[in-house]
Amino acid sequence: MNRPDPKTYYLKTFGCQMNVYDSERMAEALARDGYRETTELDAADLVILNTCHIREKAAEKVYSDLGRIRDIKGAREKTGKSTVIAVAGCVAQAEGAEITTRQPAVDLVVGPQSYHRLPELITRATRERASIVETEFPGDEKFERMKAPRRVSSPSAFLTVQEGCDKFCTFCVVPYTRGAEFSRPVAKIEDEARELVRAGAKEIVLLGQNVNAYHGEGKGGRAASLADLIAQLARIDGIERIRYMTSHPRDMRDDLIAAHAEVPQLMPFLHLPVQAGSDRVLAKMNRKHTAAEYVDLISRIRKARPDIALSSDFIVGFPGETEQDAEDTISLIKAVGFAQAFSFKYSQRPGTPAAGHGEQVDEGIKSERLQRLQAVLDEQQVSFNARSLGGVVPVLFERKGREPHEFVGRSPYLQLVHAAGSGDLVGQTVNVAVNETRRSSLSGVIEAA
Ligand code: SAH
Ligand code: SF4
Ligand code: F3S
Repeated sequence: MNRPDPKTYYLKTFGCQMNVYDSERMAEALARDGYRETTELDAADLVILNTCHIREKAAEKVYSDLGRIRDIKGAREKTGKSTVIAVAGCVAQAEGAEITTRQPAVDLVVGPQSYHRLPELITRATRERASIVETEFPGDEKFERMKAPRRVSSPSAFLTVQEGCDKFCTFCVVPYTRGAEFSRPVAKIEDEARELVRAGAKEIVLLGQNVNAYHGEGKGGRAASLADLIAQLARIDGIERIRYMTSHPRDMRDDLIAAHAEVPQLMPFLHLPVQAGSDRVLAKMNRKHTAAEYVDLISRIRKARPDIALSSDFIVGFPGETEQDAEDTISLIKAVGFAQAFSFKYSQRPGTPAAGHGEQVDEGIKSERLQRLQAVLDEQQVSFNARSLGGVVPVLFERKGREPHEFVGRSPYLQLVHAAGSGDLVGQTVNVAVNETRRSSLSGVIEAA
């Protein structure tokens, strides 16, 4: 009996870790349905772009990719092969049917809350000629309905515990693309964490657009905080490291701060975006805290865990930002001291309150302010890493490096560490004596056990 060749899919992920997680879940569901992954676009029966809408550049990249994919679809058609093109993720949610107007070769537009409907939607897209747009926020839970065996591609595995956002910062599309805040129940997360450990995970990274606002159903139906969830997961045998991101300063509760002192598996690293250091700008951004409150919060966190590595996101050139505001952000950076950070030029996003603001900042000024801010952040990152020189750090190796016998992993502070070793070190935590530090990585020698 001849079996038909398995269908193949090509999946490209843009944006944040939550999209990476969603892509992993989609890949697992497709594998369950008999699909095989390909990295060759022209061999793919199904192409999925899992997209990001956070800044204009991210969204525009999708359309340039779609142009290329349309050409490949046309070429395949001439050889009698059909191709389903699906746009998933935050551009799908934000732009919906506009995507098929701009690029008619797209067959399927599916928002982040509808992935459990993918198999059915792909079948429909194959059968029907018209394109399908599915961007509802259904009340039921996509995670439970997408169940397929979890796989891990790295000893560090992502696990989404919270989705959506109710904060409505005036620059941000996330509340519109991901919907209202929602937390998964503790028991479901524990099950998934155990499954990830069985599949080889040593580190679990708890994800959410606002992960420290987590308030999932815990024991006896009571709401559990992120600290409660972390304490629960720390009991699972085989979980060596726990991390979480991204957090909002307003939701940094005392029990979570205390967890950094009390839970050995919780790594000493915190990504806590502040965005700006000027109270005027913070208020216009609707961040709901002042610069002084952020600095005070950091000192409370450092009291609990003095060696904690801090990370943040910054936006320069928010509408109305003055030279003084930009300097205030630099002062905050100097007052806190970051181990690493991400910084962006403000990008006008359709439908967000700040986009319509009259005092947009000139692009050239934004570039100049970004450079100035990044110079300070880079210097801080260099000196943070330099502090590791001559010391020994436990490194969880995640993958092979480029050089022969080289492995790449992470220190507790999330620094990338390169070291040469024999055998297969992937998945092992090994002490490394650091003998070289750079801005974005460390190198060293593995210590004998
Ligand atoms: N939930 C996280 C951030 C999610 S988006 C938080 O509250 O901090 C990731 C980062 O993208 C943001 O922290 C912000 O710095 C940046 N960002 C979001 N919207 C942006 C915009 N319109 N222009 C430039 N950067 C933006
Ligand atoms: Fe966006 Fe603000 Fe929500 Fe973060 S807290 S996702 S920046 S609206
Ligand atoms: Fe982008 Fe959506 Fe994540 S807009 S940053 S992919 S939540």
